[in-house]
Amino acid sequence: MTVQDKELVPGLAGIPAAESSISYIDGQAGILEYRGHRIETLAEKSNFEETSWLLLNGELPTKAQLNGFRKKLNGYRGIGDDVVEVISKLPKQGHPMAALQAGLAMLGMESPVIDVHDAAQREDACARLIAATPTLVAAFARARAGKPFVAPDPNLDTAANFLYMLNGQKPDALEAHVLDVCLVLHADHTMNASTFAARVVASTEADPYSVCASAVGALKGPLHGGANERVLEQLEAIGSAAAVPAWLEKMSASKGKIMGFGHRVYKTKDPRAKRLQTLVREVREKLGSTPVYDTALALEDAVVAKLGAKGIHPNVDFFSGIVYEKLGIPTDFFTPIFAIARVTGWLAHWCEQMDGNKIFRPGQIYTGVHDATYVPIDQRG
Ligand SMILES: CC(C)(COP(=O)(O)OP(=O)(O)OC[C@H]1O[C@@H](n2cnc3c(N)ncnc32)[C@H](O)[C@@H]1OP(=O)(O)O)[C@@H](O)C(=O)NCCC(=O)NCCS
Repeated sequence: MTVQDKELVPGLAGIPAAESSISYIDGQAGILEYRGHRIETLAEKSNFEETSWLLLNGELPTKAQLNGFRKKLNGYRGIGDDVVEVISKLPKQGHPMAALQAGLAMLGMESPVIDVHDAAQREDACARLIAATPTLVAAFARARAGKPFVAPDPNLDTAANFLYMLNGQKPDALEAHVLDVCLVLHADHTMNASTFAARVVASTEADPYSVCASAVGALKGPLHGGANERVLEQLEAIGSAAAVPAWLEKMSASKGKIMGFGHRVYKTKDPRAKRLQTLVREVREKLGSTPVYDTALALEDAVVAKLGAKGIHPNVDFFSGIVYEKLGIPTDFFTPIFAIARVTGWLAHWCEQMDGNKIFRPGQIYTGVHDATYVPIDQRG
């Protein structure tokens, strides 16, 4: 049987593209595990640095290992003056994910060229990428707002550092904690589109900066990471909590999809959404309410009452957008924050792909013509 006789599976849905021990989803039971650890446990007890180590190395670090990793990350958070300058000159109307792709390419240009088969060199590159990605995102945010670049603070971890570089002032403990939990929850999610893109590029033995820049391109799409921006647009369009019932009736009548609800894999509540929901409550109690925030809470209640029995629940994108909005982060920076977390997952998959690598080269079912006649250009109709 040739590839030509095989049945096409659109989107490779359900076709295994790799063996992986990094993360696991049970969509029926609503379970997500990183290296066998339930996401709820990590969100409650761990932090982004420890979770990154876990994803990269397969097990939780000792105190000494974690301290060493933190030190390494803090040493690699800076980006070169040339990179800061180029980022400051990028078109301001462009999307921050495009700026991040450009930034990752430049980070690769200023970093040492590595042997991708050398585990120690890979480990070093992973630390550089995890450490510097938030700096690249914050640098574009500051430039776009016409504000000067804020260099990372070597005493702050990833989440607090990002907020510091974004706003120019140290975040309070709650804000840093909330973002840290969000990063833990977004760090990996099995063979989604951006991770597959990362593994395809990794399989060519390209450098990890190219691997992550490609994955950022995939994550940018509205069918993937871009959905979280749409949630905020939807909430702003609804306008107020009081307007929710009428809006929902109209939406249901037109059979429209409510952004931030439903999931392709999870047929029960997304475990990440559950944790984010509690964060939303904590943030609301401590930082107060906003119109968008009140609309979101009313929408959640109304949608779950109407569609919960059908398996439609809030997904990760619904609550993450609400949390980021409350932290004062511009809407089009929601997906870059997703990328700040997911870089860790992409890199874990890059390392896994490099062990026993085989370049991806799927087949295709040719539907074109054969033996076409070449007609000279002046004789074509
Ligand atoms: C994520 C998503 C694509 C999953 O799709 P899916 O698993 O293929 O589910 P389907 O599109 O087959 O929907 C199954 C049923 O639930 C309904 N449904 C699914 N998601 C819905 C939503 N967000 N709002 C309203 N109804 C929804 C569908 O209309 C369909 O109803 P029907 O059986 O009466 O025709 C879908 O839920 C969606 O588009 N959500 C909104 C976008 C979003 O938030 N994306 C981020 C995902 S993390």
